[in-house]
Amino acid sequence: MNSILNNNEMLTREVGKIAEVAGYLWQRGWAEYNGGNISVNITDYMPADAANMPSLKTITLPKAFPLLADNFFYITGTGKRMRYVATAPMDNGAILRINHDGTACDIIADKEVKPTSELPSHLSMHHFLREKGQPNRVVLHTHPTDLVAMSHSAYFLKPGVLTRTLWAMIPECRIIAPKGVGIVPYEIPGTMDLANATIKQLAQHDVVLWEKHGILAVGNDVIDCFDVIDTLSKSAQIYLNAKMMGFTPDGMTEAQLDELADVFKLPR
Ligand code: 13P
Ligand code: ZN
Repeated sequence: MNSILNNNEMLTREVGKIAEVAGYLWQRGWAEYNGGNISVNITDYMPADAANMPSLKTITLPKAFPLLADNFFYITGTGKRMRYVATAPMDNGAILRINHDGTACDIIADKEVKPTSELPSHLSMHHFLREKGQPNRVVLHTHPTDLVAMSHSAYFLKPGVLTRTLWAMIPECRIIAPKGVGIVPYEIPGTMDLANATIKQLAQHDVVLWEKHGILAVGNDVIDCFDVIDTLSKSAQIYLNAKMMGFTPDGMTEAQLDELADVFKLPR
């Protein structure tokens, strides 16, 4: 079959990792129906002639993303199921080329698959990370049941409470999310308002939780993004399991958390 992946080992490997993670999201029960979306900056893996590949469709972006001009992304399609991204990533996602001034993008391969409705948040996050000089290439959004459940509590939405609770469940959590979880109050999915609120939280946190909706992680590697969310979810599970057994978990002490910060040289 004709695919942009043919004879491109690096791109094939990258898309393979996206498919692998999409499978994990489904297996975890975080990807009901079309829940979740993934974007990866694949500019480094594109052939030189990709700049001239014909456009299958041009999409005007909701605002200009000048720092992403001429970049290429793999992005999952809107309405697509993660369980099918896992088995057929190029039928359930598309390769996008951002134009010269970052105001529009072209779908260039393999098929005319409409990008996720969360494109405003994905591109805003990639743009923001580029602006900050952070080399992250991946944005992963998914709907982990336990973490979304916790976002239904006004108590956990208070600044720092969710982060502190999750950190205190297992030492790994403090280490893998040293800047914690930023919380975005509920916004309509797919909007620039949601994207703008997300950027504000991303400035100070590793991971962003959308109230009553889902979570987003950024990173260099889609596997790492999954692992960060998986570890946060593990902490949430421990908290919930303790509650189901009838007690509120003690959690690690402030001194134990600070000790970790010192030993692993984490921001306080
Ligand atoms: P899409 O199908 O448009 O990617 O939307 C899924 C989702 O999780 C919206 O937040
Ligand atoms: Zn979502």
